Amino acid sequence: MWYTARMNMKIAFYALAACSLALPCAAASSSQGGDAGKYVPEEWNVKARERFVNDRFGVFIHWGLYANYAQGEWYLLHGRLDEKAYSRMMYGFCPSKFDAREWVRTVKAAGAKYITITSRHHDGFSLWPTKADDGYNIANTPFRRDILGELAQACREEGVTLNFYYSLMDWHRKDYPAGFQSRKVLGSQKGDYRSYKKFMLAQIAELIENYHPANIWFDGEWDHTRHENGKWLRTLDWEMDSIYDFIHARHTLVGNNNHQTIRPKEDFQIYECDLPGGGEKVVFSKHQPVVNDRPIEQCDVIQHGAWGYRIVEGFRTPQDIVALVARAASRDSNLMMNVGPDGSGQFPAGAVKAMLETGKWFARNGESIYGTRGCKVARGLDVVSTRRGGTIYLHFLNPKVDEISFNIEGRIVEAVYLDGGKPADASVQDGVAKVRISRRQGDRFDVVVKVTVE
Ligand code: GLC
Repeated sequence: MWYTARMNMKIAFYALAACSLALPCAAASSSQGGDAGKYVPEEWNVKARERFVNDRFGVFIHWGLYANYAQGEWYLLHGRLDEKAYSRMMYGFCPSKFDAREWVRTVKAAGAKYITITSRHHDGFSLWPTKADDGYNIANTPFRRDILGELAQACREEGVTLNFYYSLMDWHRKDYPAGFQSRKVLGSQKGDYRSYKKFMLAQIAELIENYHPANIWFDGEWDHTRHENGKWLRTLDWEMDSIYDFIHARHTLVGNNNHQTIRPKEDFQIYECDLPGGGEKVVFSKHQPVVNDRPIEQCDVIQHGAWGYRIVEGFRTPQDIVALVARAASRDSNLMMNVGPDGSGQFPAGAVKAMLETGKWFARNGESIYGTRGCKVARGLDVVSTRRGGTIYLHFLNPKVDEISFNIEGRIVEAVYLDGGKPADASVQDGVAKVRISRRQGDRFDVVVKVTVE
């Protein structure tokens, strides 16, 4: 079967140069944010963004009291539970099998370079012994151990970067002003945003000062949005600008999974499940144009239909994971794959199996992902491409597709299978390059051809 990607390579490289992180970041439209002000990232910030992009593959971890209920992280709301009853699970949270070192080693073995863990999800429970709240945190469980502290130490020792997811929406506190989702738990609670913001900043300061994350990953802002005449309107002024200043002053990056146009001070753009720029399905990113001046991160789940652990198990195949990673990388995006540990503190066995297989692929083909940039030569779903300077990596993801052609000015110096180094069938005629692979026995997924162009 033929797959044709007609793209003048010169144009492709020009377009990619425009994404270069070395460029100063232009301020994106702030029309949706109400947060005025240009932001010129400092040197530490530019470097941190570049490190983030080069890592390309991370593991997301959703973990909290909800792991004990084993019904996903929204169970309090979806299960229509009473919050007081739900929160009593704090006294039953004792994940005796939790071993931070083992988690980090599994993440590394999967080929991932960083972890982003839910320091506090929508249910409001904190995974570290925070002094900023009313005691709804790990210190008051029978487990007592500082989960984030242990994880930070293991990450440091194993050379894995740590980031913290932090929920803006809260289903527990009295000062949180209820929005359209949280109302289902909190009723019409008015709250007191001044007080809530103070609490959040105190927690964020603790997180940064105690554990030194590379980024803070916000979620839940959409609780205060309303859709009207094709537009999203914000129903609460979160004063995000000042929150971002607070985080930047502590030399930490910030991203916000608000499903909206990126604000000037956000360091990277988050795509929840959807492929940045559109793919087979577009669920959350309808109002999120891709910006090319900052890094992009797509996140998705390894366990079907769940971020937090669910007792009904079913996991992505390693083929699936590799395809997600390669497609994201071809769009110049990181991929963060989520795993939800269970109530015992362990990654589910099915997830571990898929992660370790993924890691085997990375061990042989990682060069085509880490430190690469997106490439428009092939950007469909069956064959995608990444690049590093004059080298293009063609990822053949669909077992039924074994050939690709694309426009080229210049010549192919070499085309080899990345796994094994044998030459691949490549030719150029009248400015059209053709690369053809023959799958070997045992090639179950993503065959990568490394093409050196002159
Ligand atoms: C959604 C969900 C949340 C999950 C997040 C991860 O915003 O509300 O449960 O943490 O996506 O991207």
